[in-house]
Amino acid sequence: MEQNIWRADFPQITEKDMIYLDSAASSLKPNSVIMAVTHYDHDLSANIHRGVYKEAYEATFLYEETREKVARFINAIPEEIVFTRGATAALNLVALSYGLKNIHPGDEIIVSELEHHSSLLPWQNVALKTGAKLVYVPLDSEGRITIANFESVLSDHTKVVALTYISNVLGYITPIAEIITLAHAKKAITVIDAAQAIEHMPVDVKTLKCDFLAFSGHKMLGPTGIGILYGKQEYLEIMEPIEVGGDMNDNVNKYDAEWKDSPYKFEAGTMPIASAIGLGTAIDYWQEHNIMAMEDHVRRLRKYTYTQIKKIPGITIYNPTSETGLIAFNIDGVHAHDASSYFAEHNVCLRAGHHCAQLVMKWLNIEACLRASLFFYNTFADCDRFIDATKNAVKFFHKMGF
Ligand SMILES: Cc1ncc(COP(=O)(O)O)c(C=O)c1O
Repeated sequence: MEQNIWRADFPQITEKDMIYLDSAASSLKPNSVIMAVTHYDHDLSANIHRGVYKEAYEATFLYEETREKVARFINAIPEEIVFTRGATAALNLVALSYGLKNIHPGDEIIVSELEHHSSLLPWQNVALKTGAKLVYVPLDSEGRITIANFESVLSDHTKVVALTYISNVLGYITPIAEIITLAHAKKAITVIDAAQAIEHMPVDVKTLKCDFLAFSGHKMLGPTGIGILYGKQEYLEIMEPIEVGGDMNDNVNKYDAEWKDSPYKFEAGTMPIASAIGLGTAIDYWQEHNIMAMEDHVRRLRKYTYTQIKKIPGITIYNPTSETGLIAFNIDGVHAHDASSYFAEHNVCLRAGHHCAQLVMKWLNIEACLRASLFFYNTFADCDRFIDATKNAVKFFHKMGF
């Protein structure tokens, strides 16, 4: 019998007949995270930074403790950790606050066709509003960002490099450390979308030397509604908040106000306290387990599954050499949404569509695709169910005349 030491921590897959292959969209939550959120809602429910009664004090303590845990997790300091609604809000914050103020006509912003819309559209917006130019790193024949191709577009005009660490469709790892070094040599700032990386590899912002890095709680075992913007202190200090309101100010006068220091000036109003506390517990989970062993398991699952799926006639796979747990594919002649309904009927949860990365679809010359994303709590038995479902789906659609 196959052993998976992590699976028992995830009630949704142990209690249901469900082959969950959509963790790149949102991961499942371990019991400890579910309990941490319930503890806040059931026992505390109080707001933070305000009350002095026991419940308010504990809520504040747990919220701020999460900031410290996140900082330790990525080798930052708590002052560099801003809580946001998710990676999208974090990347928008950098673009709207830093970008709109510091980018000028003629400046260049380097992006790629691999970007999730959350990493692309904030900079499209900055370019449109400031007269700066978006410059795309050409992808190589497999669809990867390479150092040579990055160098071919880096110039003295480059002011921002905004790139994904791992593509959410193809699963390729960007050589981000080398790119950051090259960008800094041109005095450009680097904004890294780590939404797909943080749950697959150790991320150390001091080693990477990135200026900003964003990720979401819900893809890394935490709740929805919480994400992180890491920013170097020197940048966060000069940036203005994009939202103003309660709890982010020190002194309010009739005609002006003074903000708290970062990160508090970026956290206006009541924050998603329960979600932040849940994220702290998710980070405990990562710290208590060996992320490299988990990822090693994911890569073995992916290799096994890819090898089997590749043998099925009538299947096109778009990322044969992907390093992480993603398989992007289509059943020839069948729209991804129709195919995903077939999988859903057989309790195989996949994602279908453009995956909020329409430029990837355009680069592949397709409208949509299916994406199976494997995670450490998946088993070879899950993979077998998925492989069988794929074989049966091909037969089914063939019989239907597709
Ligand atoms: C690479 C990447 N960046 C950004 C995001 C946006 O994350 P969120 O929707 O949690 O803000 C996602 C979500 O799928 C993603 O995969």
